[in-house]
Amino acid sequence: MEALDEQIFAALRSAERVVALTGAGVSAESGIPTFRDAMTGMWAKYDPAELATSEAFGRDAERVSRWYDERRCNVAACKPNGGHMALARLEQILGRRRKQFTLITQNVDRLHQAARSRDVIELHGTLWVWRCVRCGTETEERGGAFEVYPPHCSCGGVKRPAVVWFGESLPMAAMRRAQDAAAGCDLFLSLGTSSIVYPAAGLVDVALRNRAMVVEVNAEETPISARAHWSIRGKTGEVLPRIVEGAFGI
Ligand code: OAD
Repeated sequence: MEALDEQIFAALRSAERVVALTGAGVSAESGIPTFRDAMTGMWAKYDPAELATSEAFGRDAERVSRWYDERRCNVAACKPNGGHMALARLEQILGRRRKQFTLITQNVDRLHQAARSRDVIELHGTLWVWRCVRCGTETEERGGAFEVYPPHCSCGGVKRPAVVWFGESLPMAAMRRAQDAAAGCDLFLSLGTSSIVYPAAGLVDVALRNRAMVVEVNAEETPISARAHWSIRGKTGEVLPRIVEGAFGI
């Protein structure tokens, strides 16, 4: 892995308002497949139109709910990695210094919360909450696999995962908070995301327009790499602990 620029540590130390946007790459080292990695990504094996749209759920609720429930059960066996831990630590450190830190995630696995990040903006919902399509009641599902697919609500309606599907709007309050944080930050960290799915991918532009510095950490180059002030090729589970340690010590 490349050496880290001392200037990154200095930028993190001196920033007053930091935003971190995370994507599937941050959970890859916990054993959760990403979406777009060529061999291992979920969209290499499955067609999103068949699984991640409300039309797909309308056509085959059994298949779609089974797929999401399998993902929920797989995630239950996964632990946060060094990247999640470093971000939780960063929240604590910046909090103690009375600086602002906003963690925005596209991930639906809640591994940031498992690592004890306290305030996480979930842009794409979560696998852990299911919502009745008839009465709207949301329930947290912490048990094992469902017995029937799709699962049913006590009102008789069917339940769907409270995730954002293609073609759906993002939760409004979460998106507004994310936009405001991106507009007001002086340092924006783009972590383990391919930066091609909007509107999340547009947050970095909001930050850049407002003159924030941008640090990207990703295994590969992305469409924002050329615009970032620092673009680091590496695994977030390894790079993030080194950045937090470099900036603030052990
Ligand atoms: P992607 O799968 O599109 O991108 C993951 C990125 O992480 C890629 O650029 C990888 O190169 C990189 N990566 C993989 N392993 C890594 C590691 N250990 N460390 C650092 N980087 C690594 O995932 P997202 O950008 O999160 O939406 O995708 C955005 C959205 O598209 C998802 O939230 C999901 C998906 O379709 C919905 O389902 C609505």
